[in-house]
Amino acid sequence: MDKLLLIDDEADVRYSFERIFGQEAGLELHTAGSGEEALELIPQLRPDLVIMDVRMGGLTGIETLQRLREFDSKTPVILMTAFGTTQTAIAAMKHGAYDYVLKPFDVPKLKELVANALAAARAMKEVVSYEPLLEKEDYDLGIIGQSPAMQEVFKTIGQLAASDATALITGESGTGKELVARAIYSHSHRSDRLFLAINCAAIPEHLLESELFGHEKGAFTGAHTQRIGKFEQCDGGTIFLDEIGDMTAPTQTKILRVLQSGAFERVGGNASVKTDVRIIAATNRPLEKAVAARDFREDLFYRLNVVRIQLPALRDRTDDIPQLVDYFLTKNSPNPRRPKTLQPEALAQLKSHDWPGNVRELENAIQRALVMTKGDAILLEDLPPEIFQAIPGAPQSGDDNLASLSTKLFQWARADANLKIIPAVERELIINALKETNGNQVQAAKLLGITRATLRKRIEKFEIKRELTVE
Ligand SMILES: Nc1ncnc2c1ncn2[C@@H]1O[C@H](COP(=O)(O)OP(=O)(O)OP(=O)(O)O)[C@@H](O)[C@H]1O
Ligand SMILES: [Mg+2]
Repeated sequence: MDKLLLIDDEADVRYSFERIFGQEAGLELHTAGSGEEALELIPQLRPDLVIMDVRMGGLTGIETLQRLREFDSKTPVILMTAFGTTQTAIAAMKHGAYDYVLKPFDVPKLKELVANALAAARAMKEVVSYEPLLEKEDYDLGIIGQSPAMQEVFKTIGQLAASDATALITGESGTGKELVARAIYSHSHRSDRLFLAINCAAIPEHLLESELFGHEKGAFTGAHTQRIGKFEQCDGGTIFLDEIGDMTAPTQTKILRVLQSGAFERVGGNASVKTDVRIIAATNRPLEKAVAARDFREDLFYRLNVVRIQLPALRDRTDDIPQLVDYFLTKNSPNPRRPKTLQPEALAQLKSHDWPGNVRELENAIQRALVMTKGDAILLEDLPPEIFQAIPGAPQSGDDNLASLSTKLFQWARADANLKIIPAVERELIINALKETNGNQVQAAKLLGITRATLRKRIEKFEIKRELTVE
């Protein structure tokens, strides 16, 4: 149960929160009528998220936030502010508020903000243990893996935790990059400060720079007020930059400068802002390739690559599969004390599958099998069709259409630096990928295994019709 604490001196607002969040599953709403009351309540209540008004009788929102931060530097705080007092709210961001909302609030937006803030809080709270887990009681947290490759990963996490060094985590999709980033954080001396995860590929390219570094009022059309970015908000903490390859050149330059001097400017501003942030970056694409293609700054690459953690693909550590299966069965069974088991033939099949989606795919397969199975043990036929059908003689679904074939060809050609792909073929493959994703460049780039920047350059170079590509 997540605990949400609302602080507002107006009974009306407390009442509307009761209406909006009172019945929300998985959420427990608490209220306080003043900052003073809240500060007394918080140490015992230990809320997961605090939402408070900026203007209150007695302690103001900002003062309450400052006092709260003296003994609690992590609990996300969302401030509510009436139009006209946004300046105060912005000031509050500098004191480590998570975000602010304008009153009167838009209910769906508020709900989304609450969900995001709670997810951020959860990511900070879960201590990810990276010791090989032998005791079942420990199964609720952790990174599973006894293979030599994973043992090496654990060692590096341990070494990194003791320092502030930048780390670059690479590996295919679903190999556990985010899990490892959180393990580094939760064992570091910064574990009592903020951990913010930003997926660079999920944020529209033109907004990423301002999301990370903030902007000044009037910096671009639509920048009605100043905005504090993640690097400023996360001072003293850790930032996880996921899909690092998806950044424009100016953003790359700014990241490099933060790494070199701990300073940056907000978009559209001249004043230099100091910040002390540890950066952990991740990517599932070969960054070396992006560097060679001049899509990614070489100096930034070397800065990020101080310590490299290369996560092995699941197919390269099949010895870990039985333990992972056991872990996921325990974690996902309706009764964890009596988890379901797996028929030996089914386990053998899981060990021989090639797992393009890695650990995530394995967990999904187990979850699905748990739903399908009727008895106490998971049988071969309870496994997802793509795994079951891989058995020789089993019926094939024949899903190798033109688009998936050309994607494979493209990735294969790019995986080897010595292979030169014929431009005409490359053009066709890109068009195919764009058609496959209805012109969505982010998805098409992902499908092709290249960065969005590379894709955009190719689209220009090959003069691929604009109408084929929608942002
Ligand atoms: N070694 C592991 N032990 C237990 N669970 C794992 C392990 N590795 C990954 N997982 C689980 O698999 C899922 C995918 O992991 P994660 O999100 O960290 O992958 P990722 O490498 O960041 O993937 P993507 O590139 O798609 O973002 C998560 O639910 C995670 O908890
Ligand atoms: Mg990830």
